[in-house]
Order: sequence, then C-alpha cells, then structure tokens
Amino acid sequence: MLLAGAASALCAAAVMAQPQSGPQTGLIFRNTITGEPLDLAEGKPGGRDTKAVQTFFQTGKNLYIDDKSCLRNGESLYLTSCSGCHGHLAEGKVGPGLNDNYWTYPANTEDTGLFATIWGGANGMMGPHNEDLNPDEALQVIAWIRHLYTGPVSDAAWLTDEQKKHYTPFKEGETFAKDEPGQCKPLE
Ligand code: HEC
Repeated sequence: MLLAGAASALCAAAVMAQPQSGPQTGLIFRNTITGEPLDLAEGKPGGRDTKAVQTFFQTGKNLYIDDKSCLRNGESLYLTSCSGCHGHLAEGKVGPGLNDNYWTYPANTEDTGLFATIWGGANGMMGPHNEDLNPDEALQVIAWIRHLYTGPVSDAAWLTDEQKKHYTPFKEGETFAKDEPGQCKPLE
C-alpha cells in the first residue's frame, strides 16, 4: 500500500518534470501594447500540435491563408468572437475596421502581429482572446480576416508574391461547403 503510494507519487513527479508539451516556439510573440512575451501554453487547450501551428510558431507563415476549409471555419469563429465589435465584414463598429490597409498597430500587417493582438489583446475593449480560441483556431480566424481584406493587394504583406497573383477578394454571399477540401476539419 505504502509502496504503491510512493511509486505513484514518484510517477507524478516524473510527469511534472517533463518539459511543457506542445510546440517549442521558434519565434517570440509579444503583447501588442506592453511588448511582454506571450505565454502560448496558456489559454484554451488543444490546437497546438497541428502542422500549421508548428510552422507558424517557427516561421510566422500561416498555411491556412486561402485554404477554403480553413476559411469556412475561420468565418464561423470570427462571427462568434469578433464580429460583434469589428463588424460582420470586419468593416469596423466599436472596434476598428480590420478589412482595410490602415492599422493602429502596424505589426498587424504581419500575421505574427495579428496573432499577438488576438492572443494578448490590445487596449480597452480589445481583451485577450486566448480563452475562446486556441492557436490553430486563431490561425483560421486570421485567414478569414485576411480574406475579408478590401485594400490594395500590393499592401497585403501577409500574401506571398504567388498568392498576390491569384488573389481574389471576398464576395458577399460567398459560401463554403461543409466538406470543402483542405487542411482544416469542420469545427465540432
Ligand atoms: C468587445 C469588443 C471587441 C471584441 C469582441 C474584439 N475586439 Fe478587437 N478591438 C476592439 C477595440 C475597441 C479595439 C481598439 C483597441 C486599441 O486600439 O488598442 C480593437 C482592436 C483590434 C485590433 C487592432 C487593429 C489595428 O488597427 O491595429 C485587431 C487586429 C483586433 N482588434 C482583432 C480582433 C479579433 C481577431 C477579434 C476576435 C477574436 C477581436 N478583435 C474581438 C474591440 C473588440
């Protein structure tokens, strides 16, 4: 009895001594306002071991840009978490528009900056959203926000040159199929 107890205590200690599970971040993400490093292990569980998240944490490149299966999810997550303040089409409401080429925080022209703003928040009503979105979902929301962009393609720093060539702006009424092929499984 006693031995079993000691063994399981040892076991627990061994588990706790493991390094944090989840991807090792190559990049350091910083709070948009304070510049403090953000802890990506905090917040909503899950969505940290996908290829897209691991790639993003290493390189800052969002593989979900332009992937219809992710845009479908991103739209739905955006409508739940963001549109109440930023508008249905990200045209702006109590929060600023996110679909033009003007940014209060120029870092948001990069997906790394946008991720940091979503994760850690900005001023006032723009609170952190790492409790309602895990990192993978945040990348899907980012893909959707980028899809809503109405500004000049030349200012779309988040697109590669190749993506710029094929860029087709969002059209109202556009819909996505439930079984849209791509990297993102339908949301539960
Ligand atoms: C309760 C209202 C509210 C919600 C919900 C909200 N925001 Fe905001 N957001 C704001 C306000 C207000 C600001 C302006 C804050 C500032 O300037 O620091 C802002 C600022 C931002 C900015 C900075 C824009 C710039 O010009 O640099 C981004 C990006 C942003 N929000 C994205 C999001 C996303 C993505 C979501 C959903 C996950 C979201 N917000 C949810 C109110 C909100």
